[in-house]
Amino acid sequence: MHNLLELENLTTSFFTRDGEVHSVRGVSFALQPGELVGIVGESGCGKSVTCKSVIQLLGNTGKITGGHVRFRGEDLARKTPEQMRRIRGNDIAMIFQDPMTALNPVLTVGRQMTEILRRNKGLSKREAKAKAVEMLGRVGIADAERRFDQYPHEFSGGMRQRVMIAIALSCGPQLLIADEPTTALDVTIQAQILRLLKSLQQETGTAILLITHDLGVVAQVCSRVVVMYGGQVMEEGSVEDIFWQPLHPYTRGLLASLPRADEPEHRLSPIEGSPPGLLNPPPGCPFAERCPQKMAQCDKQPPFYANNNGHRTACWLWQDKEIPA
Ligand SMILES: Nc1ncnc2c1ncn2[C@@H]1O[C@H](COP(=O)(O)OP(=O)(O)O)[C@@H](O)[C@H]1O
Ligand SMILES: [Mg+2]
Repeated sequence: MHNLLELENLTTSFFTRDGEVHSVRGVSFALQPGELVGIVGESGCGKSVTCKSVIQLLGNTGKITGGHVRFRGEDLARKTPEQMRRIRGNDIAMIFQDPMTALNPVLTVGRQMTEILRRNKGLSKREAKAKAVEMLGRVGIADAERRFDQYPHEFSGGMRQRVMIAIALSCGPQLLIADEPTTALDVTIQAQILRLLKSLQQETGTAILLITHDLGVVAQVCSRVVVMYGGQVMEEGSVEDIFWQPLHPYTRGLLASLPRADEPEHRLSPIEGSPPGLLNPPPGCPFAERCPQKMAQCDKQPPFYANNNGHRTACWLWQDKEIPA
């Protein structure tokens, strides 16, 4: 099948007063139409910058310095700012951790939704309202007609995130990028929002790239997972690959730190140490310093790349070993 989104050896940096921050260092992965893929990794590993590179919202100091981002086969780096604006309005939507910052507090939710629909889809006022109310209902907001006229502060955190999802999906995008969409919510609401995303993906066929620092979130809804660390991809595979046959010591470390449903008393064992700074990232494997299985070459040489049928990893452990199928 044709890839909807394809990142090939993407590098993105921020040029700051202290120097070049190498936030994304050669990231490659792809998303097929309608797929729900997760990106996981500790805070600061480059998840958000990877997504912002896709939609080209890197601010004044951020720049894609190498590689490619292809959407429907077209290189997004070659688009003009106006073309990118149109793509963000119609084809690629994004939701963030804090819906309050994305909503305008002085406009009703309905007004914000209809403005977007009128601008991007050229709908009349009446058509836009009908579509907005329909979308609010679809994301599980009861009494949508009345809610349409309310202001963001009249919605709870979970309901606001539903509004954001309604807005994001109202223009019928092919790709939704959801960056930590449930991090600010309590666990019950988090599960509801994840189920909603999953069911919308199944109903509408919208592909979703779900960014999270929580491997448990990924297990609930994703089919494939990309594990990032230090601006690079450490491992990629199906959810089954990652949970039953993790290849990279970092992935294993993440799994070991997950709370277990069968043993709630089970003590978490977080990975010791902290991720490398990206101002001067190490020349070898970024995880080497914390890795319990570190070998001599890990500090100096970039990792060995192994791949078996889409389950791939960047680690010298797999240099002469066969990746189990
Ligand atoms: N605007 C910026 N200026 C400088 N450095 C940045 C900027 N945004 C992100 N970074 C750095 O890039 C790295 C990756 O950040 P980010 O993608 O936000 O991580 P996360 O995986 O938590 O989403 C971090 O080291 C962060 O400090
Ligand atoms: Mg982030």
